[in-house]
Amino acid sequence: MQFHSLSSLQSIHQQNNKLIIKTAEAEAQVSIYSPGIIRVNITQHPENKDESFAVIREPVTEIPYQETEQEVTISTTALVLRINKSPLRFSFYTTDGKLISRDDERFGTNWQNSRVTNYRELRPDEKFIGLGEKAGNLNRRGSQYVNWNTDAVDYGPKTDPLYESFPFFIGVHSQLAYGYFLDNTHKSYFDFAASTDDQFIWLGADDGDLNYYFFGAPTVAEIIKDYTWLTGRMEMPPLWSLGYQQCRWSYMSAQEVLDVAQKFRDLNIPADVMYCDIDYMQDFKIFTWNQETFAQPAEFIAKLKALNFKLVTIVDPGIKIEKGYQQYDEGVERGYFATYPNGENYTGEVWPGRCHFPDFFREDVREWWGAAFQALTEPGVEGFWNDMNEPAVWNQNIPWMVKFGDKFMPEVRNVYGMEMARATYDGTRKLLGNKRPFVLTRAAYCGTQRYSAVWTGDNTANDDHLLLGARLVNSLGITGMAMVGVDIGGFSGNPTPELMVRWNSLGTYTPMYRNHAIRFSEYREPWQYGTDNMELIKKSIEQRYRLLPYLYSTFHESSQSGMPVCRTLAITYTHDELIYHEDYQNQFMFGDALLVAPVISTSLTTTVYLPQGNWYRLSSNETFEGQKEYTVSAPLHDLPVFVKAGSIIPMQNFTQSTQDNGDGVLQLNIWNGDAITSLAYYEDDGVSYDYEQGNYHKRTITFNPLSKTVKLLKAEGDYNSRFRQVQFILHGFENQSELDLINYTNEEITFQI
Ligand code: GLC
Repeated sequence: MQFHSLSSLQSIHQQNNKLIIKTAEAEAQVSIYSPGIIRVNITQHPENKDESFAVIREPVTEIPYQETEQEVTISTTALVLRINKSPLRFSFYTTDGKLISRDDERFGTNWQNSRVTNYRELRPDEKFIGLGEKAGNLNRRGSQYVNWNTDAVDYGPKTDPLYESFPFFIGVHSQLAYGYFLDNTHKSYFDFAASTDDQFIWLGADDGDLNYYFFGAPTVAEIIKDYTWLTGRMEMPPLWSLGYQQCRWSYMSAQEVLDVAQKFRDLNIPADVMYCDIDYMQDFKIFTWNQETFAQPAEFIAKLKALNFKLVTIVDPGIKIEKGYQQYDEGVERGYFATYPNGENYTGEVWPGRCHFPDFFREDVREWWGAAFQALTEPGVEGFWNDMNEPAVWNQNIPWMVKFGDKFMPEVRNVYGMEMARATYDGTRKLLGNKRPFVLTRAAYCGTQRYSAVWTGDNTANDDHLLLGARLVNSLGITGMAMVGVDIGGFSGNPTPELMVRWNSLGTYTPMYRNHAIRFSEYREPWQYGTDNMELIKKSIEQRYRLLPYLYSTFHESSQSGMPVCRTLAITYTHDELIYHEDYQNQFMFGDALLVAPVISTSLTTTVYLPQGNWYRLSSNETFEGQKEYTVSAPLHDLPVFVKAGSIIPMQNFTQSTQDNGDGVLQLNIWNGDAITSLAYYEDDGVSYDYEQGNYHKRTITFNPLSKTVKLLKAEGDYNSRFRQVQFILHGFENQSELDLINYTNEEITFQI
């Protein structure tokens, strides 16, 4: 095996927007994307095209650098990169001279054949968060991970890799934070001092460049903002996708789907979405409908619509090999499938049997795929669930030599799912006119947030998975994925009624709230667990619908700043040691105001840690001082959820569907505090892209405890709010009460408490 270590600077020059430093064995290209984002690309193949699936920004043209005999220094207003010339080593500092992160002096960057690795110094108190959908602890120190999108059947709390790859992490130490994004789609490795005697961390990839973006903003929230500026932010999801979603593998006929939908309405359990898993298709052929059981899709969907339900249908990438099947014939004829090097189409087996796989890396294939959704959009489908796109084939092992265009499988496996989601999003967006499609994908890479929501694949019906699910959702949020869900109840196995009740109560506070189950499992709808449990599940769903004005405003914030909806406490309380403790690492903020403490179904009390500030229990208004641990009650009907003092939470009376107009009253809940707080309240029509043209309703709401006022600043935007009246609901004030309704207008409204 050949071994090369990055050696000394031989020459330096600027070429367009890159500073190029040559050594005997490689070239380091440095560019600046914004004051807080510096890219370092160390490559042995500078002749290769510089391309990225993730990054949507260009570097600036100015690279201010200075040179001495020992060093090259690049300074921005936010970050200083000092490059030691011999050997070439990279060190990042704050502008006031504090060391943030640097190469290990001895080992820096090196290659073993094509494998490239970066060895980085470790601080004694350093912690690591991120990498998206990774099992294990919130603090990744002491763990190692591989990025290699995998159909992770029966995964557990420590399984790695899972379905998605997000080679982006955040390091925190000595009151500092930084981000590191290795934009390399090959199989990649991250070892956070798991096997290094605490001497260093190391990360790298089987091939490709050591191509990383270093983020130097001072807080985790700002690093996420910069990372999502670089790789994109999600757009506003359709409002209906934030309602309750009912799925199963599979409801076997249109009639069965309709019966379940009808039952939600009969029992007055709010819900918005029904799903069709693979059995709606004819012989699992993508873009077909089963001729017997789903014979009249347009009529079926019209009936669902009449019940105020939307339909989401599954699509997998595998195209069944069958002459006469349109997608197969066209794909073969036009050469749209992945091939062996000799040009033969690659064949693998998935649900439909023997299949070929579209080459989503080609624009013409993506367009072809996107246009085929007409078979689904025409009868009225608005949500598209992309599954098995790791890509999964039975036994997992797609041969290395399989080609997607000019690239081999190992180079692009980690982005296959994202490119499928991209084709689905682009195609359905065109087909649906001005309506927002809802796309959900199982496999993903950095940047997927631009096209799709994700869920955490085939989890299991047990308490460990309930807790793991919370960590996965929170971790995905750090990497820009705000619209995330888990299979509520656990995909495999059968949950106990208690687990189902508990998991639903957590579902209320999960960005995507979907109940899903494996085939042949017991039925999972809310009414399957007896009347008392049904009432509890119903309460959780009703609470979700009450919170929708708050949740939608929080999604708006995500679309603007990349701040996720479910926020690990590490985002805001980064340097508080206790939040990383195993007992507390699952806790998260749901938006800015609510702290949620997941609890297993067999415990009716739990310990929680409330960080800095003052807190109220949501269900009782009991008050708690922050920076303390508490043992609190956690009965099945009352998941421990706390409100940060000073919070403003816009709510509404629940409706049966997001398509119901409701009673027109915006309930502004205020919890007393001692500092001025504010909230950006946001609304739009929930379905179209008109908000991009200014058709939204947005206003700042401020609570001032000193002057005892709540002020709604004049509303911006052309959209007329759905609400006609506003009611202030006060918590923790002397006169705790619900006050009279007043008219809700676009003008400034001041309310005296
Ligand atoms: C995969 C998916 C699961 C789906 C099943 C059948 O296992 O992860 O959600 O129900 O395939 O399509």
